[in-house]
Amino acid sequence: MRLHVNDTDHDAVPRPGQCLRTLLRELGWFGVKKGCDSGDCGACTVWLDGQPVHSCVTPAFRAEGRAVTTIEGLAATAGADALHPMQRRFLAAQGFQCGFCTPGMVLTAASLDQAQRRDLAASMKGNLCRCTGYGAIGDAIDGIVHTEPDDGIASAFGRNVPAPAGPAVVTGRARYTLDAAPLPGLLHLKLLRSPHAFARIVSVDVTAALALPGVQLVLTPSDSPARLFSTARHENPLEDPDDTRVLDGVVRFVGQRVAAVVADSEAAAEAGCRALQVEYEVLQAVFDPEAAMRPGAPLVHGDKGPASRIHDPSHNLVAAVESSSGDPVAGFAAAEIVHEASYTTQRVQHASLETHGAIGWLDQGCLTVRSSTQTPFLTRRALCDLFDLPPERVRVLCERVGGGFGGKQEMLVEDIVALAVLRTGRPVRLEFTREEQFIGAPSRHPMRVAVKLGAKRDGTLTAIHLRVVSNTGAYGNHGPGVLHHGCSESIGVYRCPNKRVEGYAVYTNTVPAGAFRGYGLSQTVFAVESAMDELARALRLDPFELRRRNVIGPDGAPHSADDTAHTDIEMGSYGLDQCLKLVESALRRGAGTKPPDPSWQVGDGMALAMIITTPPGGHFAQARIALCAGGIYELTVGTAEFGNGTTTVHAQIAAAVLGTRPTAIRIRQSDTALLGHDTGAYGSTGSVVAGQATERAALALRDRLLDRAAIQLCVDRAACHLHGAAVQAGTARLALDALHAASEAELVGTGSSAGTPRSIAFNVQGFRVAVQPGTGEIRILHSVQAADAGRVINPMQCRGQVQGGTAQAIGATLYEELRIDAAGRVVNPAFRHYHIPAWADLPRTEVLFADTTDRVGPLGAKSMSESPYNPVAAALANAVADATGVRCRDLPLAPDRVFRALAAHNV
Ligand code: FES
Ligand code: FES
Repeated sequence: MRLHVNDTDHDAVPRPGQCLRTLLRELGWFGVKKGCDSGDCGACTVWLDGQPVHSCVTPAFRAEGRAVTTIEGLAATAGADALHPMQRRFLAAQGFQCGFCTPGMVLTAASLDQAQRRDLAASMKGNLCRCTGYGAIGDAIDGIVHTEPDDGIASAFGRNVPAPAGPAVVTGRARYTLDAAPLPGLLHLKLLRSPHAFARIVSVDVTAALALPGVQLVLTPSDSPARLFSTARHENPLEDPDDTRVLDGVVRFVGQRVAAVVADSEAAAEAGCRALQVEYEVLQAVFDPEAAMRPGAPLVHGDKGPASRIHDPSHNLVAAVESSSGDPVAGFAAAEIVHEASYTTQRVQHASLETHGAIGWLDQGCLTVRSSTQTPFLTRRALCDLFDLPPERVRVLCERVGGGFGGKQEMLVEDIVALAVLRTGRPVRLEFTREEQFIGAPSRHPMRVAVKLGAKRDGTLTAIHLRVVSNTGAYGNHGPGVLHHGCSESIGVYRCPNKRVEGYAVYTNTVPAGAFRGYGLSQTVFAVESAMDELARALRLDPFELRRRNVIGPDGAPHSADDTAHTDIEMGSYGLDQCLKLVESALRRGAGTKPPDPSWQVGDGMALAMIITTPPGGHFAQARIALCAGGIYELTVGTAEFGNGTTTVHAQIAAAVLGTRPTAIRIRQSDTALLGHDTGAYGSTGSVVAGQATERAALALRDRLLDRAAIQLCVDRAACHLHGAAVQAGTARLALDALHAASEAELVGTGSSAGTPRSIAFNVQGFRVAVQPGTGEIRILHSVQAADAGRVINPMQCRGQVQGGTAQAIGATLYEELRIDAAGRVVNPAFRHYHIPAWADLPRTEVLFADTTDRVGPLGAKSMSESPYNPVAAALANAVADATGVRCRDLPLAPDRVFRALAAHNV
């Protein structure tokens, strides 16, 4: 058939049943994305004869003889301009973070008439964004400008500098993991996944699969390296248990890999999977973590020895924390009031719009893997270990990653792709479906948290006891780290001298949990901050006041029950007092906000959260910056860009140090071939740790430039670089000399950071809600968050991180839940059943910043990517309790649950 795409005629023969999305990508139009392939997310939006359609549910043959417009061709529809007006608006408002949803968003928005633009919640309901919370997208459509003009050398820092990749993002030229023309001989890999929660694989008969046309290879447990590893990626690999194999002879959750089929096409690989004959010996499974800890429970990793570093395989314990400070027994004895309750948080998914994927190939004998990873260097290290390869024979890289939120701090695809590449010698591609993302990729750890607080009548805390049971699922990736982190800062923010923590990360036969925005804190903060609210009510104290009487101050150190984790912490700046005041005032200002009608009950709630700005145990980053011909600086960093905004921040840091424009900084990143090492972009380290390396590299280059400039000035003006003031004052002259220097020889500065000391950041969230007692529905009337981000490098971008984090947490508080049935199966592995917030679901969060400058972070900045997520759930639950008088201690606060709680209370 013939179709006209943008300015190009294509002759194509779609396969039976092929959708327009895959056909367009096969024709090279990579601006057409996949988020779900089921019509739910809008990432695949194109215009068909000028009308937006979801191309994943549009049969390819329907495009015959019609005009298809993808994001790459949108500009041409507006005439001779380089960009369509809507693309310009998205740039001006920076209506994106990772940008994976952006082509679809722009195309849908560009098709709206004036009337449709007045009701964006309805008009944009078919397009989902997981990063932004839709605020910046709404601003883009409304024509609001957030970016500031590039008008001078001294303006780099603290201004709304646009993302360097913006033009590529809004035009579809930005390249994500699988946006690459097929390599010659490319093979496709598909995974057969377990239907059983716990079973031993007795045999895999591959005969029928190998006989199918196009099938080249079948990988079964007998092909797997024997070596055990963890899918979690940490600088110190000993943080996680070695409990995983590439393909294991035992399956421990429904959805675990059983075998892989490698074929000439995805369809052939899928047919190969269906043809595999697997015999299982089904074992008794355990799904509840409390039951899994009891004697006699099925042992998920009972076959593992001490070398796996599992805390206690005989009780399914991957990790345990039992520690005290002060004298908790005496502290509770001295209390005049004790509050005690249990709180539960559910399993939620990252749901980044880009699913996991990788392409691997051999490049002159070097195993090369392009993947959707937050940690290319650590993934290379793991591949080297697994396949006994030296580092110079493995390269891992990513371009732009379509959202991460911690979910891509794992090795979920690279290992099996590498095995297939090494076995076939040919390029191999694997892309998770959305269903695989839900059933085979990690989620947030569900936790049960029991909190006991003792206090004096004036609110002074005398003792805190926390008991945390964390369900790590079938594998222990991130289980220990999430447990320790969750048990630490949630109570470390309070000065109470007597604390006890008991925490257990427990194996069950469920889909593994892993790193998730907040890294355990969102769950424990929900419990602790809900309990603090209950204590405040019992004491008839204002919840802000109760916090003020107990939080650590500017001179205080975080005080957990396990202080060994806090030896390198320095309170580089303190803004918690400001954050409390900002949110308190904002809620007071909005006191007149009205509910939909008088039958709704209205209330306010707040919660706070503290986070240490860098993970413990070492986090390393290197940076290199070179002055190149034309006065352009080339900055090379290891950290990845997945919507966290680090690319912009690095350009601003380098420009601020070098006294140049951010647009003069060209960034290369996230490729193991470019630098020695970088731990990776997680724990909000992209700005703080990698930013420090960039700052130091830029300072080193500046010193060299100053030397060069001084020499020049000595000749020209009889000044000398030893008389630094004369040179420092000559900023313009420095830039001129830099240009001269660039034409003479490449000048280079290098820098590194070990991620220590570590500072502390704070977030305070406030909500005003209305609750409908007849249905349990919650409406957010006002959402405000104050953030102590240190010196804010890019207010527009930082505000976006806070709004996006709040939005994601609102979803996790009100309705998101990955549900698992009695047989261990995920029952809602699709966006239409696992509800992530759409446009209509979210309020616009007001974002306020404390005015602080951090002594530790680069140029005074602190981290602010994951922490905004942490106080949201408790603040919402506290607001609901304020509105209704009824406390909900279990998430999510779905209408049916709230309704039942209200009904029970009112009986
Ligand atoms: S990929 Fe088509 S709607 Fe999600
Ligand atoms: S910017 Fe929308 S999904 Fe990332």
